Amino acid sequence: MTRIVYLNGDYLPEAEAKISIFDRGFLMADGVYEVTSVLDGKLIDFEGHAIRLARSLRELEIASPMPDDRILEMHRELVRLNDIDQGMIYLQITRGNPGDRSFMFPDAAVPSTIVAFTQNVPNLADAPAARTGFKVISIPDLRWDRVDIKTIQLLYPSMGKMLAKKAGCDDSWFVQDGAVTEGTSNNAYIVKGNRIITRHLSSDILHGITRAAVLRFAAEAQYVVEERAFTIAEAQDADEAFSTAASIFVMPVVEIDGKAVGSGKPGPVAGRLRDIYLEEMRKAAI
Ligand code: PDD
Repeated sequence: MTRIVYLNGDYLPEAEAKISIFDRGFLMADGVYEVTSVLDGKLIDFEGHAIRLARSLRELEIASPMPDDRILEMHRELVRLNDIDQGMIYLQITRGNPGDRSFMFPDAAVPSTIVAFTQNVPNLADAPAARTGFKVISIPDLRWDRVDIKTIQLLYPSMGKMLAKKAGCDDSWFVQDGAVTEGTSNNAYIVKGNRIITRHLSSDILHGITRAAVLRFAAEAQYVVEERAFTIAEAQDADEAFSTAASIFVMPVVEIDGKAVGSGKPGPVAGRLRDIYLEEMRKAAI
């Protein structure tokens, strides 16, 4: 089955969707994105992603190409056309095609480019990795200072994934001034007793949509949530660790820089939060 993608108002077979070489996304990484997961053919936390998208666009003064209700309609249409039961929708908006290369932002009349496509992941909820957990390494956080904006500048996170792979691991956690900021494409947590610790919100981390929901469910389940910085040493010494993102939900982390966390196996708190998250978000999916 040929994947049908969305480009500037049209639904097209993927091979027919073409973008200019002058697009600011291509030349300058001048764009923002969102990844929304799909379970049972429905969107998980669409509203959270739409709100963050609007904020990212505002922060970069990129014109929003369409209202939220049309973006929702388009997501649903992509799910329908591609018959997605479980997977993700990637949405990207760039500052468009000014017809040449220039460091200056183009005239407001240049329309934004909007692209979206589905990624079919039939076992997204029942991912084998959730049963074994991630092994992570720590690397310096060399990203720019506004990672709260979900930009398409993903070279360093991509390098972080490759460094992890070369080390026989699954992901990297970024460290800034001795403390963990987040994973390459997820938020990072540790568990100590009934306390769940994750870095406080600032421009040093992406304000994860999964993070917000998981912290809400954690508080409802009587865990104490501490939003503060923590070190790699503290994480290695914790009872459990985990990461969250739309692409992995709640993913146990069982090893950090070669040292087992807790039992070295996925822990009960991460498992419980994953179950609660999936159950509650499935109920609220649209
Ligand atoms: N990444 N931190 C970073 C740096 C991320 O790239 C992501 C998401 C998150 C988690 O955000 P959310 O819970 O809203 O998915 C945190 C997406 C999934 C990606 O780049 O594929």
